[in-house]
Amino acid sequence: MPDYGAALSLPIPTGERLLADLEQLATFVEPDTPGWTRRFPSPAYLAGRVWLQAAMQHAGLTPRIDAAGNLLGTRRGTADLPPILIGSHTDTVLGGGRYDGTLGVLAALEVVRCFNDAGITLRHPLIVADFLAEEANAYGISCVGSRGLAGTFQSAWLARTLDGVTLERAIQAAGGDPAGLIGPLYAPGALAACLELHIEQGPVLAQAGRSLAAVSGIVGIQRGTLRLRGQPDHAGTTPMAMRHDALAAAAVLITTLEQLCHAGPQTVGTIGRLEVQPNQSNVVPGEVLLTAEIRSLNPAVLAQVWQQFWARATAATAQRGVTLELVALTSSPPVTSPAWLVELVHRVCCSLDEGALVLPSGAGHDSSQLAQIAPTAMIFVPSAGGRSHCPDEDTAPHHLRLGGAALARAVLALDEALA
Ligand code: GLV
Ligand code: MN
Ligand code: MN
Repeated sequence: MPDYGAALSLPIPTGERLLADLEQLATFVEPDTPGWTRRFPSPAYLAGRVWLQAAMQHAGLTPRIDAAGNLLGTRRGTADLPPILIGSHTDTVLGGGRYDGTLGVLAALEVVRCFNDAGITLRHPLIVADFLAEEANAYGISCVGSRGLAGTFQSAWLARTLDGVTLERAIQAAGGDPAGLIGPLYAPGALAACLELHIEQGPVLAQAGRSLAAVSGIVGIQRGTLRLRGQPDHAGTTPMAMRHDALAAAAVLITTLEQLCHAGPQTVGTIGRLEVQPNQSNVVPGEVLLTAEIRSLNPAVLAQVWQQFWARATAATAQRGVTLELVALTSSPPVTSPAWLVELVHRVCCSLDEGALVLPSGAGHDSSQLAQIAPTAMIFVPSAGGRSHCPDEDTAPHHLRLGGAALARAVLALDEALA
C-alpha cells in the first residue's frame, strides 16, 4: 500500500486566492433576484464562466468547452495516462448561496496554482471542470453537463423549451455542441478518477464539530413533472360539489408525498415547484404543473415510494375529476463510491482533521453521473447550521481552506496510487 508521504505532508495553502475567487464569482448574479442567483442559462451564469475561463488560462490550464457545454481546463501530466478530473458547478438555485458548487470548482483551480507554485508535476493529466447546469433548472433537468459527459443525457430533452429557447440552443449558447451528445464523452476507463469537493449542505459535520468528511455515497433522485388538469370556474358561483380544482388535488399530492416519506425508511420527498393556471384569486384553479422528487440511498426504496406516490396520486386526482399526466421523469441512481477511493480520501481528510467522518450525501451532485464512467468520490466541508440552497449558506474560511488542502492532497495521493 502506498504511504502517500508526499501527499499527506503537502503544506496547507493560505486560502487567500480561493477566498478572493469565491468573492469575485459571487459578483456575477442575476439582477433583481434573491441571494446569489446565477442560474443556467442566464447571462450572469455565462459571464461568470467567461471570467472562470480566463482564470483557468491564467493558472496555466488549457481550457475548452466540450459538446455538453462543460468548461474543462487541462494541465499536462508527465506520463501517458488517463486524466484525473476535479471540479463541480458554478450555477446556483434561485436564491442560492455562495458555496454550493463554486467551492469545488474554485478550489480545483487553486489546487493547480498551488502545484504550479510548488513545482509539483503529476504523472496524470489533471482536468479542472465546471460542469454545465448542475442544479434542477426550468427545463426540468439537473446535471446537464455531467450527464452529457457520462452519456446519461437523453437527446429527447434537447427539444424542451423555456421562454422560446430550446435546451439545444441554450447548450449551444454556453459553447456546447449538442449534436455531439451521442454517447459518453469519456468512455469508461478514459478518466483515471474524479473528485469533487463540496459543502455538506446538511448539519452532520457542524453538529459533530468536525471539519472534513469523505463521502461514501450519494442519494438517488427520482424526479417527475406532473400535469393536473381540472376545470377553471367562477370562484363565487361554482358550488363546492361541482368543482374540479387542480390545486386542491395538488395539495393532496403534497401531503401524500410527505406522509409516504415520513413513513418510509431513509427517504425524503419534496414538491418544491408549482405552476398554477390561471393563478387568479377568484378562479377555481384549472391546471397545475408540479415537480415531485424522492431521494434515497436505497434503490428499492426509491422505486417503491415513487410507485406508492403515483398510485395514490392517480386515485386522489380521479376522485376529484382531475386528470393526471406524467410530463417528464428523470432519475439518477444511488451511487456508492469504491471502497478503496473512500479509504484514500478519508485518510487524506484524517491528515487534516483526525476525527474526519465518512458520510453519505443527501444532495445530488455531478459526481453521481461521473460515477457511471469512472471511480468517483467526494470531500465535504461543513455548512454552518446545515443550511444550503438559501442565501444564508455559509462555510467558515478555515473550513474552505482545509477543503482545498484536502482536495490537493487527495489528487497527489491518487496520482501516486493509480497505475
Ligand atoms: C442539488 O444541489 C440537489 O441536491 O438537488
Ligand atoms: Mn445545489
Ligand atoms: Mn452542488
